[in-house]
Amino acid sequence: MAVSDRTRLSVLIADVHAGREAEFLALARQLDDLLNRNKYARADTIGDEALPSRFYAVRQWTSAEAARRSHSNPEANALSVQLSEIALINHVVNGVRQGNRGRTEPDRRARADRDRRAGFERRAGDVGRPTGNRRIGRERRLGPRRARERTADLIGAARRARENAAAPFSNFKVGAALETSDGTIITGCNVENSTYGLSVCAEQVAMVKALSDGHRAFTRIAIVADSEAPAAPCGACRQILWEFGGNLEIRLANLAGEQGTHRLEDLLPLPFDGHLL
Ligand code: THU
Repeated sequence: MAVSDRTRLSVLIADVHAGREAEFLALARQLDDLLNRNKYARADTIGDEALPSRFYAVRQWTSAEAARRSHSNPEANALSVQLSEIALINHVVNGVRQGNRGRTEPDRRARADRDRRAGFERRAGDVGRPTGNRRIGRERRLGPRRARERTADLIGAARRARENAAAPFSNFKVGAALETSDGTIITGCNVENSTYGLSVCAEQVAMVKALSDGHRAFTRIAIVADSEAPAAPCGACRQILWEFGGNLEIRLANLAGEQGTHRLEDLLPLPFDGHLL
């Protein structure tokens, strides 16, 4: 297959929350119709024969440009948000954006390995990285139930960390929970300062704590705030998370529950990083 064809293929795995399969499929079909109708892609959602809660969303984009146009289609975005509320969604092939590392790896293992390598290995200096070939305890692929529980754990940890926020000036408490590739969860909350400018965000606290404990590879971060719309990480946090965590999965939640899942590469397109130095 020519590389140009491969780079326009997206495949997502959706592990649907128990009992919401019919709802998921109806929404997924609506999204597929929209993508097909607008000629953004040939899109289809296919169920896993062995696992009723698992679906594959396969999209062969008409062009990279068409894929980008679909990403700024509000109707498509609204459907994607609804889908992410009832399923744990992961890209297994993301061939739309070219010129970036690792967009076309064919499976989750490859992506997990890439994420594991992310962070310090992407930097020229690579100072302070633990030596040796650390075995990662969580490499085993998780079933959907365990994956959901782990997400709930991560969001729960962020929610609890939020309670510790020192935010007397904004009264906007934020909690974050960062998962390392060996499954350790490290939390952070925002800590404000009377000089305002010295305040630090929850995500940065979590990342600095993790680095200082010797962790160097990360998979996901959950961020919880008491806001109606999901509180996405600020620009500075995106840069710091990218620097040390690479293409993390970002799970956003408010006190009512989860509000969406993103990949950091989507929140921070065209990032500045050590490769440019
Ligand atoms: N805040 C975070 O902790 N994370 C973000 O990504 C956005 C903002 C904090 C900083 C400040 O203490 C409060 O929220 C209001 O901006």
